[in-house]
Amino acid sequence: MTNIKLDITHILPFIDRHELDLLQPELNLQHQLLMNQTGAGNDFLGWMSLPDDIDDALLSRIETEAARIASLAEYVVVIGIGGSYLGTRAILEAMQHHFASQMPGKSYPKIIYAGQNISEDYLKDLLDLLDLHTYALLVVSKSGTTTEPAIAFRVLRQHLEAKLGKVAAREHIIAITDKERGALKGVSDMEGYPTYVIPDDVGGRFSVLTPVGLLPIAIAGYNIREFVNGAREMKKQAQGSPDFEKNPCTLYAAARNLLYRGGKPVEVMVNYEPRLTFFTEWWKQLYGESEGKQQRGIFPAGVNFTTDLHSLGQYLQDGLRMLFETVILVEKPNRELIIPKEDKDFDGLNFLAGKPLHYVNQQAAQGTLLAHLDGGVPVMQLKIPQLNERTLGELVYFFEFACALSAYVLDVNPFDQPGVEDYKKNMFALLGKPGYEAEGEVLKKRLI
Ligand code: PA5
Repeated sequence: MTNIKLDITHILPFIDRHELDLLQPELNLQHQLLMNQTGAGNDFLGWMSLPDDIDDALLSRIETEAARIASLAEYVVVIGIGGSYLGTRAILEAMQHHFASQMPGKSYPKIIYAGQNISEDYLKDLLDLLDLHTYALLVVSKSGTTTEPAIAFRVLRQHLEAKLGKVAAREHIIAITDKERGALKGVSDMEGYPTYVIPDDVGGRFSVLTPVGLLPIAIAGYNIREFVNGAREMKKQAQGSPDFEKNPCTLYAAARNLLYRGGKPVEVMVNYEPRLTFFTEWWKQLYGESEGKQQRGIFPAGVNFTTDLHSLGQYLQDGLRMLFETVILVEKPNRELIIPKEDKDFDGLNFLAGKPLHYVNQQAAQGTLLAHLDGGVPVMQLKIPQLNERTLGELVYFFEFACALSAYVLDVNPFDQPGVEDYKKNMFALLGKPGYEAEGEVLKKRLI
């Protein structure tokens, strides 16, 4: 049994229920395409069976590696970008202490990130921190050639080697990459770094259930078996009947496409828990990179409430009516904080004394729901009992499966990203990479 529930009640005033029902046969077809592996991009469907493919031997190897790394490093720098970075950060930030990096004590290494940008200041500041601590590098790149992580790895590897010596540094570096191709695989073989494989048929943004996500999650001390179990449960439901009554993935894919067709091209993912900020970032990549093609696709945006009710809230309530919301509601927090009573009640808040803060958060969510409905915003709600490894595993598989279906409804291939190459080509040309000289000249003239 899965724990998460999709509630579409609050889109019904904005759609014709009959039209949603008419989408059922279309979703049956897309579901069948996915299950029979006959749709676009069908050589990238390895993610579908990952929850069952991850065997005990691999999980044990990851757990042993995680314990080894934990014993020798205060910090682990995960080097990667896009799908080689966002899934890890999404899951870890959803579970760990909000101030994990500032908290004293060391039961598990603190996870930090590099290679997700090309900022000189960022990397230099990171080196300041790493000067002061023991650390290990977990370098993740499926292609093994992506510029951002490759530069970060070059800099950090040299820093580590200068600190520990080349031989000892090898003990502190792990690579996750293709089984045989790419520069990262080459250097790992040459130096003898432990390596883990991203399967050929799993694309970056669908890879969090491979060692890409599992190893750093285990290093940070979380239960990867529960995470996989959650995904396994959702897999059963997702791959079962496509009937909207039984399958939240087909229902979500249909509902968002119906809203899109009805003039709502922007989906805003809403949370009321700051720990879900990076989950939204992961979702934005998954849907943006999978669907935004051929001048089509729902634009995935994200907000954190109630924080952003004091900034973007105005636009959501009153701006151009081009959007709908998907709200993640966590029913029970992991901690408890009761609002205290004040004898003098100088702030007039005694009417809330004795109530858990989460109760106030929930009322804010309800009030916002009604306000946004009045403002003309359709709202879907995704209800989760609590945030933990299991529910996060369910959420990951839910969004992945629904994403593939939704892209098929849009009639695009969910598993490629041809548009990402354009900026890379220009960047290489402007940087003078060998082989790009002619393009470089043309681009430089355009920039004058
Ligand atoms: O989803 C994707 O395929 C991309 O976002 C990649 O994960 C990203 O570009 C990083 O690629 P790589 O893992 O090859 O370094």
